[in-house]
Amino acid sequence: MKIKKLIIANWKTNPDAPGRAARLASEIEKRVRHSKNEVAIAPPAPYLLVVAKKLKKVKLAAQDVSWGDVGASTGEISWHQLKHLKVQYVIIGHSERRRLLGETDEMINKKVLASLKNGLKVVLCVGEPKSVRTKGMAAVKKFLSSQLGKDLKGIKSLVVSSDASVGVPTRASGSLIIAYEPIWAISSVKGSKPDKPEDSVEVIKFIKNVLASRLQITNVRVLYGGSVNAKNALSFLSQKEIDGALVGGASLHPREFIKIVASA
Ligand code: PGA
Repeated sequence: MKIKKLIIANWKTNPDAPGRAARLASEIEKRVRHSKNEVAIAPPAPYLLVVAKKLKKVKLAAQDVSWGDVGASTGEISWHQLKHLKVQYVIIGHSERRRLLGETDEMINKKVLASLKNGLKVVLCVGEPKSVRTKGMAAVKKFLSSQLGKDLKGIKSLVVSSDASVGVPTRASGSLIIAYEPIWAISSVKGSKPDKPEDSVEVIKFIKNVLASRLQITNVRVLYGGSVNAKNALSFLSQKEIDGALVGGASLHPREFIKIVASA
């Protein structure tokens, strides 16, 4: 069975007003209606409701979630609340949260476990800093192996259900997605540039091997993220190992985002 590519728009804290978010969402929905790929939008939390109302084919994603239940956690958003808003995917462990807010692997692991237990699909972001990439691929693999081990601790029993709706045939997979985002490739990082597709393919193959051999989790979709745009999208998305893209800056321009979706 062919696995559908997944393209996620990560709007971060953009746009600056709910009306704009609604218009952006409508435009994306209208233009990707006939796409064979899976598309999701992750708006800022205050716009989830406004954006949800505009979506039919496009799925709704959150940019973060609390590991706790409903209760005394000021400022957090629980999985209950996300599910009420029909959120299906949640991005966890984005490098901006790790770097700027001090989110640790332990916190990320709790979020991953709580989300999977409660029926949210997890998009776990992993990726190395520049200082590791400059040491070479062996160092990158060591770094990612450790990050995956910590972030996914204890998940084996939680990802056994199959998900026919996204064309994922066997155990695991539908509920867990990994986004490989080398930190130095993210467009908001000074001096960033996209990874070389052949290098991300090598890393993504490695991630799939780690999941299969160490955690016995197979058929997980692994996306690439970091300065994906309309010009370079095909070079990533035409690779069979790359199952989609997590797109930041370019996802705020509907025409450009649609071209990225079409490249898949
Ligand atoms: P970018 O962001 O596409 O603007 O590099 C990707 C991300 O941060 O998820």
